[in-house]
Amino acid sequence: MRIPDETVEAVKQGTDITELVSSYIKLEKRGRNYVGLCPFHNEKTPSFTVSPDKQICHCFGCKKGGNVLQFYMEVENVSFADAVRKLGKPLGIEIAASEQVANDSEMQLIRIHEYLTDLYHHILMHTKEGEGALKYLEDRGFSGDIIRKEKIGIAPDMRDFTKNALSDKGFSLELAFQAGVISRNEENFSYYDRFSGRIMIPIRNHQGYIVGYTARSMDGREPKYLNTPETSIFQKRRLLYNLSDARKDIRKQDEVILMEGHLDIIKVKMTDVNNVIGLMGTALSEQHIQVLNRLASNVTLMFDGDQAGQNAQLSLGADLLEGGLNVFIISMPKGMDPDEYIEKYGPEVFRNLVKNEKRHYIHFKAEHLLEESMNNDMAFSNNLKMLTDHLKYVKDQVIRERLIQHISQLYKVDRKSIEQNVPNQAGASSMGTVARPLKQLPLRERKERYLLRALMKDRDLFLNFQDKISEEVLTAPRYYVIFKGLCAYFDKHDEFELSSFSQYIEGEYFSTAVEVEELLINEDITTEEVNDYIEDLSGIRNSEKEKQSLYQQLQEAENSNDIELQIKLAQQLNEINSRYKR
Ligand code: UTP
Ligand code: MN
Repeated sequence: MRIPDETVEAVKQGTDITELVSSYIKLEKRGRNYVGLCPFHNEKTPSFTVSPDKQICHCFGCKKGGNVLQFYMEVENVSFADAVRKLGKPLGIEIAASEQVANDSEMQLIRIHEYLTDLYHHILMHTKEGEGALKYLEDRGFSGDIIRKEKIGIAPDMRDFTKNALSDKGFSLELAFQAGVISRNEENFSYYDRFSGRIMIPIRNHQGYIVGYTARSMDGREPKYLNTPETSIFQKRRLLYNLSDARKDIRKQDEVILMEGHLDIIKVKMTDVNNVIGLMGTALSEQHIQVLNRLASNVTLMFDGDQAGQNAQLSLGADLLEGGLNVFIISMPKGMDPDEYIEKYGPEVFRNLVKNEKRHYIHFKAEHLLEESMNNDMAFSNNLKMLTDHLKYVKDQVIRERLIQHISQLYKVDRKSIEQNVPNQAGASSMGTVARPLKQLPLRERKERYLLRALMKDRDLFLNFQDKISEEVLTAPRYYVIFKGLCAYFDKHDEFELSSFSQYIEGEYFSTAVEVEELLINEDITTEEVNDYIEDLSGIRNSEKEKQSLYQQLQEAENSNDIELQIKLAQQLNEINSRYKR
């Protein structure tokens, strides 16, 4: 099924590129544009640029980008039709669902999760089998609304329930095993349920598809939480729990709150604090840091008020700080986690805690290390050095000043001596310059670019010269590719517009097209001028000059009777004539 052009156009018109991109990465204004860290490749200096005027975005580093649809396709890894559908939805533009997008293997695994999640949820809400679990959840303060929203469910306490349900529905058990929802007896290759008698909490990937579960036992059965094993769609080092739901709020507040427990996060969502996410376990990977870095400047850690929680905060906090984020800590009272805190004090007190009680990681750590430092001079020295080292990652001058003051007071040392020992700000990546390779191009290339720019100007001009352009005029392959794109484009459009043109060329050439379009040319460029460019580039003019000079030399060679030179020059002339004989 083809989506009508008007529909595509309406979705493009209705979606603002800056708003869309900024729901994925943090952007800073640079003149008329915005820049941020590219969501498509790993970088320290921002080279991803968004132009609100042109409604396009692109990366000078990896060359990805385009209009709103192309950005969405790339960042969500969806088809063109899906991008139109998803972006059209909030605009009230409905597109009939074409045949299922899913045929690829990951989508099949996701379908299994969708089916099971609905089934488990139904059993929890509407059957006798679910009564105990539902009561357990209600007793713990989880509302019907949140249980429905999160699609929490129950896997019945049977050996073959899930297996049989999947079989009956026609799902392949081999695939279900790959999805991690059933287990396999490796001796006789029989399948059996992986999760039974457990509350099933669905885990969504960053696009919002359910890809796994964390499953809590209710009867003291160990382990308390059983998770989906690593699968092709459930990779702990990539996943951040609740990110798909929290993304908008994270971007809006430029802050993400990281918690330990999944049920804590669900409970917190009931208090209308929505920028909360969790890890799968406590390992923070390089990928996690990258994702967080692109999303927000500030991370707040709110782990359990026990020794394990404290230690996790200390170690993850350092990684996040070194990863370029501002890190804050909200401390839980001893022995409490956010869920218990909300049950005890209520949502209002919790919201106040979140709003008012954030200490900088370094501040938190300075206090945490104080006691052991006081009676142990070696620890004092080591700890002070560690804290001073951390300070180099604090980009904000004011916060840094304040932290130095805190440490100086706590540790009773002169602030000057702390200041002097802060290493150079090596790690702190500056959002300063846009990595934009405006390197001088060779003359030939610059000329080709100007010609291409002229051809973008309008349709009439383009059609006028279309037949004169060949690979001998635009010799750099990428310019010729852009020219070919222009041929297709002006076949359908009257006016040139980058955000539409981007759909006519491969992504890797788009970035070049953007650079070309940015070249300034005389608005009333004449056909003679364009002709001039083309003649110049096709070598005609240069060859004329060369020919003249050769004739002159030939004359002189004849005058001086230098036969050898005469032959050589005549050959050269021949060559030029045959090269440019049109
Ligand atoms: P907790 O034991 O503090 O659990 O473990 P919790 O989050 O407070 O859960 P409830 O309130 O008792 O239901 C903290 C986190 O450690 C992981 C889970 O992510 C859990 O949320 N964990 C704990 C496991 O992965 N497996 C376990 O068996 C226990
Ligand atoms: Mn708990």
